[in-house]
Amino acid sequence: MTTELAETAGRLIRGRRATRAFLPDPVPQETIEAVFGLAGTAPSNSNAQPWQVEVVSGAARDELADALVAAHQADRRTPDFPYDDSIYSPVHQRRRAAFGATLYNALGIGRGDRDLRASYDLKSLRFYDAPHVALLYAPESGDPRLTADVGMYAQTLLLAMAAHGIASCPQGMLSFYSETVRETLGVSGGKLLLGISFGYADPDDPINAVEVGREPLLETTRFHR
Ligand SMILES: Cc1cc2nc3c(=O)[nH]c(=O)nc-3n(C[C@H](O)[C@H](O)[C@H](O)COP(=O)(O)O)c2cc1C
Repeated sequence: MTTELAETAGRLIRGRRATRAFLPDPVPQETIEAVFGLAGTAPSNSNAQPWQVEVVSGAARDELADALVAAHQADRRTPDFPYDDSIYSPVHQRRRAAFGATLYNALGIGRGDRDLRASYDLKSLRFYDAPHVALLYAPESGDPRLTADVGMYAQTLLLAMAAHGIASCPQGMLSFYSETVRETLGVSGGKLLLGISFGYADPDDPINAVEVGREPLLETTRFHR
């Protein structure tokens, strides 16, 4: 028997997706506080709740977008968590390539269109026009278990947002400019794991209709019985 809650959860979980075009309308502060409050109920090792979150809106959001674009154009990359394509195994690379092809096809950007890709990067550093962005910090130690807790928090946040009609895009890209974010927002300590742009989805932008699939269950999960 499927309960009403299970059906709702299925719709919520499957209905969430990365949104890459937003309307300018801000989300009311009361709603923002409700979803971040829900996110804080995420599970964590020993209930340490090792996340630190900066939520940025209004003029501060515009200032951060400008600073990120400037850092990108000056190639001032300072990721707190080192990044290299070699973190992906061949099977991960295959899935990644399929995702990239779907996204760039939908955008009408070909493999060789360097200029178009570059201008899309700038769009992403401007949070795809979302009126808000959240920056999620893991503890300074960068311990993998505690950093995974921040991942738990992130998904709880995305689902809480989806339940409130708020669209979101998790953006690892924003974490490449951690010094810029730190300086602009006056943040001390922690390691920047992820940015999450959020607001209301632009229903007329075809990029928001793009759906990316998933591997069949048994590709990633074994049942021992
Ligand atoms: C940790 C993380 C980092 C991501 N970084 C980016 C990013 O920098 N730019 C972007 O457009 N999408 C980014 N995404 C969104 C993924 O591309 C997206 O979640 C994935 O393709 C699955 O699509 P879906 O979220 O619509 O189901 C990121 C997602 C996660 C979880």
